[in-house]
Amino acid sequence: MKIAAIIPAAGIGMRMESSTPKQFVKVAGRSVLVRTLQKFISCQLIHTIHVVLRKDEIESFKKEIEDLKIQKPIQFVEGGETRQESVYRGFKAVEPDTNVVVIHDGVRPFVEVEMIKAIVQTAAKKGSAITVLSCFDTVKEIHQDLVVKTLPREKIVMVQTPQAFKYEILKESFERAEIEGFQGTDESSLVERLGFPVTVLLGSERNIKITKPTDLPLAELYAQDIKFLRDNTKVFF
Ligand code: C5P
Repeated sequence: MKIAAIIPAAGIGMRMESSTPKQFVKVAGRSVLVRTLQKFISCQLIHTIHVVLRKDEIESFKKEIEDLKIQKPIQFVEGGETRQESVYRGFKAVEPDTNVVVIHDGVRPFVEVEMIKAIVQTAAKKGSAITVLSCFDTVKEIHQDLVVKTLPREKIVMVQTPQAFKYEILKESFERAEIEGFQGTDESSLVERLGFPVTVLLGSERNIKITKPTDLPLAELYAQDIKFLRDNTKVFF
């Protein structure tokens, strides 16, 4: 089975209130993106990695990882205006004889290798798989400053990456989204709209998306890998 990974990291990070995009911010001495990349390098199932970056950041990132002596093929792809466009560009660089494609945000460095394996294996069996967390807060739909209604939270999950798909399913989903002008905030939304079943796996509360300045102290803590901080969300599934 041939598996490719796409790591989108071409965002400009407006929410970070910093001139350094979030994927290049250092956490315990190593950049967020290097940390994310290392997880995919150490996952034996992954054959090739496609890192999507802004054009002017490709050379400096290549320099940053020079010393790591990476054995796996890594390809750098220029990103687009939206996350979807960036991932699609990464996808176009994936070899067509690939069986499963796994996509993971460059700004989620605390994904576990076991989780990458599980999502790939589930997609290989079922076609599509995503990682999710239960929702413990009450969730409401609003319009401007007024509540429209309360949503049933037991039916709601919060979606993370990694997400994995059989190559052919993802190809058709990207092509149809492009023709029909559909923009989604994750790849699963492109796949669901065509009626393909998407299997959910329990993700991890540690797998945070580093997007705001307040995420950084938590990231520093997680980078120390303190065992007692491991999440216990499994009891809720
Ligand atoms: O914007 P969002 O929080 O959804 O970003 C998730 C991931 O997608 C980040 O790693 C970000 O760098 C990446 N991204 C991208 N190209 C864009 C926008 C976001 O690769 N145009």
